Amino acid sequence: MKALEIIGNRELTGTLTIAGAKNSAVALIPAAILADDLVTIYNIPDIADTKALCDILTYLGVKIKKDKETLILDPKNINNKKIDERLSKKLRASYYFMGALLGKYKRVQMYFPGGCSIGLRPINLHLKGFEALGATVTQEGNCYIVEAEKLKGADIYLDFASVGATINIMLAAVKATGKTIIDNAAKEPEIVNVATFLNNMGAKITGAGTSTIIIDGVDSLHGCFHEVIPDRIEAGTYLIIGALCGKNLKIKNVIPEHLEALISKMSEMGVDMQIGQDYIEVTKKEKYKPVNIKTLTYPGFPTDLQQPFMTLLTQCLGKSTIEETIWENRFMQVPYLNNMGAKIEIVGQKACINGPTLLTGCEVEATDLRAGASLVAAGLLASGKTIIKNVEHILRGYEQIVEKLTNVGAKIEIKEID
Ligand code: EPU
Repeated sequence: MKALEIIGNRELTGTLTIAGAKNSAVALIPAAILADDLVTIYNIPDIADTKALCDILTYLGVKIKKDKETLILDPKNINNKKIDERLSKKLRASYYFMGALLGKYKRVQMYFPGGCSIGLRPINLHLKGFEALGATVTQEGNCYIVEAEKLKGADIYLDFASVGATINIMLAAVKATGKTIIDNAAKEPEIVNVATFLNNMGAKITGAGTSTIIIDGVDSLHGCFHEVIPDRIEAGTYLIIGALCGKNLKIKNVIPEHLEALISKMSEMGVDMQIGQDYIEVTKKEKYKPVNIKTLTYPGFPTDLQQPFMTLLTQCLGKSTIEETIWENRFMQVPYLNNMGAKIEIVGQKACINGPTLLTGCEVEATDLRAGASLVAAGLLASGKTIIKNVEHILRGYEQIVEKLTNVGAKIEIKEID
């Protein structure tokens, strides 16, 4: 089994460059099949999730050329066959093939997606959206068949501003006849990135980034060039690590506006940050004030940064709280942080963090991607050796994490353990 070994308590200094956003790239790759011609996407992060989606493309007959962070996809000879469970189970975002294939062929057959076990993660809102557009959904065990004679624009209100449902409905509606209106749509920057991509392909989408998205269906979509936005969650994770161990640690290729909630909470704590147009520089301070956060949809505090942020809260003087409102099961890092010396109590969906506490390295487990990130942050701060098992979860979302952290002075490596 592969594990991350970290020798902590070292000062991190230098520059870390942020990759393209995982949660944008994982939607753009399936969305590319809607085009009738070649699509070029720049700044694709080199992570396990994008590789898993390329495996699905290859399985469907899409030709792929990869040159560093650039993907050139040729969907001309795509074969709309049933997507195997083995492929769909590898990640959550495989579900974007539902919207994309339904939008293109009016039929898709695939299995329930995989992904981190951070909650129940139903897809009822996605399916409700497809049905509103005129599709029927048949479930056979874990397999879904979604098909329509014709897709017709509709008014769709989402009970929750779901990122996945908003994107999937856009993908299915982009070639439907007439107008689709998604109300209570998610407003995350990744939604804007996907809508811009589709518009570059000839779609007519307005309102992305607000809670009402309007899609005027078009007959066909052509090839295009497009760039993935920087990963705000990777950037936020390294910013947190900088507040724990940094000395003028520069995080480059960042859109600071995408990180407003985190930056504002870190400022409230007293973290020392220099914010430039596309970078943030951070230096560790000896004392931080406690703060309270509640995870919310964008532009609120992102749930994906809640877990690494918890590690930072272990260093605040007094009691901080975190309320997790998006996922039911996103405190799995807590027992491991407590084993390292933190004092964290969970009551329902709230966690109380009493600090500051000295952290000491030990053997821990990454139960999911961002729990893994919180343990990496803890390991970098802790004295002694931290071994993080189940490193695959971390590699699903953080490009070259070992190389990036080593370059700024961390002692971190991937090792084979029993
Ligand atoms: N929900 C439903 N029904 C649905 C869809 C969602 O009840 O049909 C609920 C979920 O159970 C959850 C809430 O709505 O309680 C939010 O879910 P959302 O659909 O917004 O999440 P997602 O699209 O499955 C994406 C990211 C997650 C991130 C969330 C929230 C991708 C591939 N994943 O998930 O990222 O936490 O939005 O911002 O884009 C991560 O990167 O670590 C990660 C988990």
